Amino acid sequence: MIQNSSLEALKSQIDIVDVISNHIELKKAGANLKANCPFHDEKSGSFVVSPVKQICHCFGCGYSSDAIGFVQAYKKLSFIESVESIANDMNYTLLYDKNSNQKDYSKIMEFANTHYIKSLSKQHKDYLLQRGLSEQSIKTFEIGHALSSKEQVEALKAEQFNINDAVECGVLAVDEKKNVFSRLVMRISFPIRNHTGKLIGFGGRTTTGHKAKYVNSAQTALFDKSRNLYGYNIAKEHIYKKGTFVVVEGYLDVVMFHQAGIQTAVATMGTALTELHCNTIKKANAKVLLCFDGDKAGLEAGFKASKLLSAHDIHGGVVIFPEGKDPADMVKDGDIEELRNLMKQKTPLIEFAIKHISSKYSLNVPQDKQVALKEIGEYLKTLHPLIQDEYKPYVAQVLGINQVHVVIEQESVQVNVPTMQIQLNVSEMNIIKTANESETLASIVLEHIGIEMFDYHQTEFNMFLLKEPKLQGVLLSDKLSIYSEEELKNQVQIMLIGFHQKELQNIMNSDYEYERKSFELKKTKGIIHSLKKKLR
Ligand code: UTP
Ligand code: MN
Repeated sequence: MIQNSSLEALKSQIDIVDVISNHIELKKAGANLKANCPFHDEKSGSFVVSPVKQICHCFGCGYSSDAIGFVQAYKKLSFIESVESIANDMNYTLLYDKNSNQKDYSKIMEFANTHYIKSLSKQHKDYLLQRGLSEQSIKTFEIGHALSSKEQVEALKAEQFNINDAVECGVLAVDEKKNVFSRLVMRISFPIRNHTGKLIGFGGRTTTGHKAKYVNSAQTALFDKSRNLYGYNIAKEHIYKKGTFVVVEGYLDVVMFHQAGIQTAVATMGTALTELHCNTIKKANAKVLLCFDGDKAGLEAGFKASKLLSAHDIHGGVVIFPEGKDPADMVKDGDIEELRNLMKQKTPLIEFAIKHISSKYSLNVPQDKQVALKEIGEYLKTLHPLIQDEYKPYVAQVLGINQVHVVIEQESVQVNVPTMQIQLNVSEMNIIKTANESETLASIVLEHIGIEMFDYHQTEFNMFLLKEPKLQGVLLSDKLSIYSEEELKNQVQIMLIGFHQKELQNIMNSDYEYERKSFELKKTKGIIHSLKKKLR
């Protein structure tokens, strides 16, 4: 178990904005931050994060939580795993109770890494040298070789590592028959470190011609391939200095680019570039240069990445290497000048995406032009309106059409507006929000107001009465504000008057006998009168 004091200390240091922005892009919205909700499909930005309250809430689907809860839900982790994952990102060392099996992942991971490095035989080192890697690169990138499963499990056992922990951190795995085996078997090992240099996983290239040429660690509390970039720990300082991210296709390309002095090179690990990678790029305030092969996979990856990056307002370009010009081989053959020249001939991201779309159509057929234009329009919609406008002449030129035809239909009214937003009655909600602020303000409300007096927000008032934590999220809407004591008293009077005026109507519509009716009417009118007097 994590020591309670350690957990509390971590909690006091967690900033929900940092935690969530590690996963999704947040935009400032007044005192809060906003995003499209990651827990339901939407485009309207109903997901609000409050730095003051340290909570997040979605006005669309009702999701509410603190930072730990967010990571639990987002990464599908248990509470403890979520705490460990946050601590990991914050470079915070959690303390564990002595009698519990401490999660000593780093020790296991580092042991495995050192073990792989030691196991790199002459034969496999020669393979690396023959691929063009220098001795220095093998050292810098800590490249090794994973032997048989049996050999590795025994090595871990000999060091008395907890086998379960070794499974949890992804060094080992368990098959259906509950047999433990190692994840990398007879593979060149590439340790994967996060931005702080912490070892989080491994990539491995087969040395036996196994049909899976590369494998990575499975997703664990430590390793998330949709978020980390291979080589980033080494490239980071150069990226910040140069303001460029060079994204290449794989482990070997990263090593070879670095060897050629292009030390800003990183790679995704068997996945396309994701929103999370965009967050890392945005944090570095850097441009991107995508360097991909000219095969179908490389072109498609370049296209996808161009769309994603440009939609996130990240600038940069794409270089597609012509056939026979494998960048890693160019470095191996010492053609570094040529590699650098090719990299200078980059196509800007947006142009690349537009060209790629049009390349799929036969532009000598007018109907095909029309379809291409439609698809380009769909893409342009994801960009800033100003950028859309700027690219109209380019689209016209690429398709060979008159620019007047490049019309981008803007999305009409938002669909799917959460009911909460349609029906938000600001004055009722402000009363609840104000009462939620302090005991004093709450007592003013509770003295006069009952739940029946709410026309729209009885549920929320009930949440307030029951002190339900979920209410805190609901109150985050930037349409709401907190009244001063004076304003609150006025608003309470107004609410009371409204309530009694409705009462008056009810009495008039009732079938009370004459005397009762006039008595009730008089009484209620009296109440309204005195309330109005107080209000003045
Ligand atoms: P490549 O097959 O282009 O790798 O895949 P490579 O670097 O050229 O390999 P060599 O030159 O034959 O050694 C590029 C990247 O795609 C991922 C890996 O991250 C790899 O580095 N990949 C590839 C996988 O995840 N699994 C695979 O089976 C193949
Ligand atoms: Mn290759």
